[in-house]
Amino acid sequence: MGRKAFVGGNWKMNTQRESATALATAVAKATEKASRDVEVVVFPPFPYLLPVGDAIGPRVRLGAQDAYTEASGAFTGEVSVAMLADCGATHALTGHSERRHVLGESDTLVGAKTRAVLDGGLTCVVCVGETLEQREAGETDTVNERQTRAALEGVSAEGMARVVIAYEPVWAIGTGRTASPADAQQAHAALRALLAKLYDDKVAAATRIIYGGSVKGANAAELFGQPDIDGGLIGGASLDAEEFGAIVTAAAKKVH
Ligand code: PGA
Repeated sequence: MGRKAFVGGNWKMNTQRESATALATAVAKATEKASRDVEVVVFPPFPYLLPVGDAIGPRVRLGAQDAYTEASGAFTGEVSVAMLADCGATHALTGHSERRHVLGESDTLVGAKTRAVLDGGLTCVVCVGETLEQREAGETDTVNERQTRAALEGVSAEGMARVVIAYEPVWAIGTGRTASPADAQQAHAALRALLAKLYDDKVAAATRIIYGGSVKGANAAELFGQPDIDGGLIGGASLDAEEFGAIVTAAAKKVH
């Protein structure tokens, strides 16, 4: 069986209660048809998980932008996986470049968070990707490999059924600069080869590897047309339901 396309809308630190609910309602409408063939997930800010969960309808799934490693206790400001699940979240992001580079998360912490998300029964979208400096130094695959190995440490082959890898070159996030389909494909193929090495060919063939970084309605089809690109993680364009809907429609057309 082929890989089901996946499109996530990472709302980051945007929206307020009313606009979040309105966006969720509009996303449900704009993706109504295509979401039969695509796993569509929105990742609102923590405080809006509940109202957004009520507004997204039966087909769009709810995700959290982050999760903490521990189940409960004295961790001021943090949110556990069980709390997220209790709010209806079925997915969580780990290792987003803004958490790595703005909030200073290490590879080790990303690995611990990934294990916590999986142990808590959620699907984990693990984000990896190189900075511009690293790309220019020819280190793209090395960085992706280091981050992926650390994030997946202790994750079994069975656990991989609930892992999606998001390749997001840092220089392409929020910059309007998209990786060329060929460059993105090359990085995705290298990641898939790494999964074959870490697990086996079956896991490598079954795992969704999605691209993130300035994906829009206008460039989605070409990116998703690459053999190893199984969808996208969308930031800016996910705040516009019509644009996001066009991206999900482009993913629905992808046949593996
Ligand atoms: P962008 O963000 O689409 O605004 O570039 C992507 C992401 O950070 O997931």
